[in-house]
Amino acid sequence: MENTRLIVKQSLSLSGTVDVSGAKNAVLVIMASLLLTRGKSVLKNVPASADVSHMIKLLEQLGAQVGFEKDAKIMHVDTSFVDKYKVSPEIMNKMRASVLVMGPLLAHFGQVDLALPGGCIIGARPIDYHLKNFERMGVDVEIKGSFLCASVKKLTPQRLVLEYPSVGATENLLMAATCTIGTTHIVNAALEPEVLDLVDVLKKMGARITIHPPATIEIEGVCSLHPIEHEIVFDRLEAGTLILATAITGGQLTLPNANGYLMETFLSKLDEMGHSVSIGKDGNGIVFRATKSPRAVSFKTSPYPGFPTDLQAQTMANLCLCQGKSLVQETVFENRLLHVRELEKMGAQVSVECNMARVSGVEELYGAEVIATDIRASAALVIAGLAAKGTTIIKGVHHWKRGYEKLEDKLTKLGANIWLEEAGEKGVFEPVVNYEKISQEAESF
Ligand code: UD1
Repeated sequence: MENTRLIVKQSLSLSGTVDVSGAKNAVLVIMASLLLTRGKSVLKNVPASADVSHMIKLLEQLGAQVGFEKDAKIMHVDTSFVDKYKVSPEIMNKMRASVLVMGPLLAHFGQVDLALPGGCIIGARPIDYHLKNFERMGVDVEIKGSFLCASVKKLTPQRLVLEYPSVGATENLLMAATCTIGTTHIVNAALEPEVLDLVDVLKKMGARITIHPPATIEIEGVCSLHPIEHEIVFDRLEAGTLILATAITGGQLTLPNANGYLMETFLSKLDEMGHSVSIGKDGNGIVFRATKSPRAVSFKTSPYPGFPTDLQAQTMANLCLCQGKSLVQETVFENRLLHVRELEKMGAQVSVECNMARVSGVEELYGAEVIATDIRASAALVIAGLAAKGTTIIKGVHHWKRGYEKLEDKLTKLGANIWLEEAGEKGVFEPVVNYEKISQEAESF
């Protein structure tokens, strides 16, 4: 039984200024990309989330030396002695993003052995786009039970057409292509800000990459890449989560280091709800002021620059208390509405049909005991808990710790009444003092 839980009490009018952390989804792939180089790299603005700890373990398992100064948010990675190409099932099962070492290891060793990433609660999440296109580049892929062995003598450049702009497949193929002599194109590529942060890193390493509108990445392969120093892009998903927490409580929030131009589809929905959003020059800095009587809005998730699937659940939590009816359509993952039944326990009125949720706004939500089913569902339940009458107890906290760097502390500084508790030896819950231990408990997404 999981012995950690989040407690959230009704907290109205959150208010203040927050520095947003570096993006989890950028740092994981950028850490993997360092396997393309030999030597010492430095990453700045690295969030201390549980997934980052998993990626450190993975790199160490392959022979890298990693030092992480959590307070300074600086990570030193020395890849000089990387000499292994096998990823153990223990690491693979903890974090699906482990699959992102496939491209760099194929480019470096011509070989990689991985346990297959398990299915996940928000959908099947296959890796067929990755494998099909690696095969087109000449890679032999063999699946033995739940293990995957891939090998190639020499990667061949190709025109790779993705049937869907998968973030992970784009990143994996892009990394492999940087060291594939000749010209590779990735057509219908994902162009999320985190993919573009990876492109920046690869260019700093010496890769030759051009992006052609609307969504083709051209890569001219080079013989070798060198170590880099890089500051990770801000986490637009943490920024969005903080804004939605502020919105539901009718408060005000300033995010000086967030860039509003990277969140425009999302921010325009908040504007449509009646909230006030101001973006600084060149997109730098966001000032948010919530309306006390938000309107219902409808949206569907889609790849960037569309509405991010990773903010769908948190937005829905807000819509539960808006005047009128909203329609939320999830098009990216086939099973990402599991938070609905938990929100219903808190008094929300939502009906689900296939990938569509119809939300009828209610006057009030009530604290309840609920279970987080993935990272973003955990954030949605926290947001609902901030507005709900009474106390909300959230289980499944490992998801929260995997995706966010002490977000409960940031919310507390804004005036939220939220804390983590863990069960002591006698089963009695007490506020958490040892964060390291909690991070290690984090499991698969
Ligand atoms: C990444 C993000 C995740 C985000 C998602 C979509 C990281 C670590 N995670 O996940 O937070 O929610 O992008 O923005 O960056 N698919 C296939 N076959 C494949 C690959 C994907 O069918 O080979 C499907 C998936 O099941 C899903 C859709 O494509 O339905 C999008 O997945 P993808 O963009 O690959 O997401 P991830 O890279 O796993």
